[in-house]
Amino acid sequence: MKNLKLDISKAGVEITPALQAEAQRANALLQSGEGVGNDFLGWVHLPSSISDAELAALQAQADKLRAKADLVICIGIGGSYLGAKAVVEAMTDPFKLLHKKQQDPTVVFAGQNISEDYINALMAAAEEHSIAAIVISKSGTTTEPAIAFRLIKAAIEKRYGKQEAAERIVAVTDKARGALKTLATQEGYPTFVIPDDVGGRFSVLTPVGLLPLAVAGVDIAALVHGAQEMEQTTADGTPFEQNPSAIYAVVRSALYRSGKKIEILGSYEPRLQYINEWWKQLYGESEGKQGKGLFPASVTLTADLHSMGQYIQEGERTLMETIISVAAPDHQVVIEPDAENLDGLNYLAGKRISEVNRMAELGVQLAHVDGGVPNIRIELPKVDAHTIGGLLYFFEKACGISGYMLGVNPFDQPGVEAYKKNMFALLEKPGYEEATKAIKARL
Ligand code: PA5
Repeated sequence: MKNLKLDISKAGVEITPALQAEAQRANALLQSGEGVGNDFLGWVHLPSSISDAELAALQAQADKLRAKADLVICIGIGGSYLGAKAVVEAMTDPFKLLHKKQQDPTVVFAGQNISEDYINALMAAAEEHSIAAIVISKSGTTTEPAIAFRLIKAAIEKRYGKQEAAERIVAVTDKARGALKTLATQEGYPTFVIPDDVGGRFSVLTPVGLLPLAVAGVDIAALVHGAQEMEQTTADGTPFEQNPSAIYAVVRSALYRSGKKIEILGSYEPRLQYINEWWKQLYGESEGKQGKGLFPASVTLTADLHSMGQYIQEGERTLMETIISVAAPDHQVVIEPDAENLDGLNYLAGKRISEVNRMAELGVQLAHVDGGVPNIRIELPKVDAHTIGGLLYFFEKACGISGYMLGVNPFDQPGVEAYKKNMFALLEKPGYEEATKAIKARL
């Protein structure tokens, strides 16, 4: 395990040979493609299948957008949003916008909500920048990004003209079907394809994630390389004790079976906050079905110790916790001595902030374990494109194994259709006439 260490010593789980065998069988099914949902297993060998030519084409397109725009609006929702958002947040300076001189364009997101005020604020801010857009939708028919794109496309065309708009808008969608594909072909937008056999929440290492990330200045070759290494490390045939994804899947499955209902993912690095959000979609959509599955929740620490800490320590004992721990920060900041010591902090003088953060982490871990919250610790040596690529694939592989151990199809999401039917009926979409009558009668 070159870029990730897994510590399950405080999970309180006995890994029996039977559990190991279950995980190994699940991993073998992912490899052989004989399990349920096997038409969506393209992600399993995705990292190793990405060619240098594909990366170069993505980088070349990203460079064109980077040259034209200082603000790139990335439009998508769910799996067509969270991966890029997670890695952009992890890899970019949180105070970038406060620096007067910026090298990389700012990547912002739209289409992940239907808030009038959000899109209004974004469009107003966009007026002060040179802009471009990446519109991402696998189905090409999702309402939220389609609404945002209609507005942003019109703004780009109004400002630059239709011909130049076709140089500033890139589509990432299905190779053949969907309204976005039709529109992209008609308007002559450069287009990248989302493979048929990769579902939204597993698509961060396709152009869905890689194009926006390259625009944001992330080293996508290093990201993919990290994922490739993890693909090898977690491949079928790896002994159980050397496969971090299998171990993680087994421990969380065993805790679920012993009565834990909620898994909290947390980190002491705020830049990883959206990795939590990406993970919540990955596990929530993959496992939350048939009345089963750990509920994925998240905290950002130490901030949430001052809000959620009480519940985690003493609330319902249905929680388990997984912490992403970062061994080395990128920079050093040392606490200074103070002659007056009015704040009483001189006992910390000369220590790095990260030492204090580490002691908080270790102290919280023991307190939570003592309080009945089993702990899994995932340690990254540092946060960079390589380690994040490895982390993403680690979670994906563990999700596939864990979903099979749970006895569900981890690669479908039938439940997300329910709200759409109601929304379309309420909006009186053509074709929903009967549903409209029925739902209005219920209001
Ligand atoms: O994981 C999924 O399949 C979903 O979250 C989708 O990614 C999301 O609904 C967006 O779909 P699309 O890319 O088709 O617009």
